[in-house]
Amino acid sequence: MSPAREIPFPGCHMSFPLAVLVSGGGSNLQSILDKIDSGALPAEVRVVLSNKPDAYGLTRARERGIPAVALPHADFPTRAAFDAEMVRVINAHGVDAKVGAVVLAGFMRMLTPEFLRAFPQRVVNIHPALLPSFPGTHGARDAADYGVRLAGCTVHFVDEIMDHGPVIIQAAVPALPGEGGDALAARILALEHCIYPQAIGWLAQGRLAIEGRHVRLTAPAAPAAAPLASWGGAERPYLVSPGLEPGFLPR
Ligand code: GRF
Repeated sequence: MSPAREIPFPGCHMSFPLAVLVSGGGSNLQSILDKIDSGALPAEVRVVLSNKPDAYGLTRARERGIPAVALPHADFPTRAAFDAEMVRVINAHGVDAKVGAVVLAGFMRMLTPEFLRAFPQRVVNIHPALLPSFPGTHGARDAADYGVRLAGCTVHFVDEIMDHGPVIIQAAVPALPGEGGDALAARILALEHCIYPQAIGWLAQGRLAIEGRHVRLTAPAAPAAAPLASWGGAERPYLVSPGLEPGFLPR
């Protein structure tokens, strides 16, 4: 196991700058904005970028006065040129190798090693399956089609392999008898909206240490995290690890 790397982020008294990358509806972006508004997440979305000019996530950003930048990937001669422009725009909005983080929220493009090197240990992703099961574009649907009895979602650091980097947090839900893939995906998405802001909050507080494939969550100041297993009532059971803290629990 490689030595622990504490990620030198500022304390929670500062607003942690985020660049959010979307390709679609941006409901995860919205959940991040909502947690910022509630005071639970000490962060600030500085810019939202999309490779799809009609992504509703860009509209969500514009409606809040957040810079929203459309970069159609087909306009660029190479993947490297597209990623280099994204790095330039993100840097211009105050997120760089030392400050803030890049949040992939339904961004449907693989990133180049050059992009990842521009933000070392500062790019995170959410995936609608319990990785390493069901990586790829349709994680929740693939899990439902497979007939799993437990499904869920994962927030992880991004590395050069798709849906592969060290895991920060996972949440699981039972697949209910007779439930279609869409219904299961909707229940998973509701949990995504809790675990992603929570993970970003830990990142903002400098509480995540990467040790090889393992991510260690350092102790909270206060209050203590919720227990490992949390049950949202008989109708909507779920399990999450590490436990969600107050302010991030499902409603
Ligand atoms: C989510 O299911 C996320 O896990 C996956 O893409 C979807 C994006 O949804 N990576 P939204 O655009 O945030 O609503």
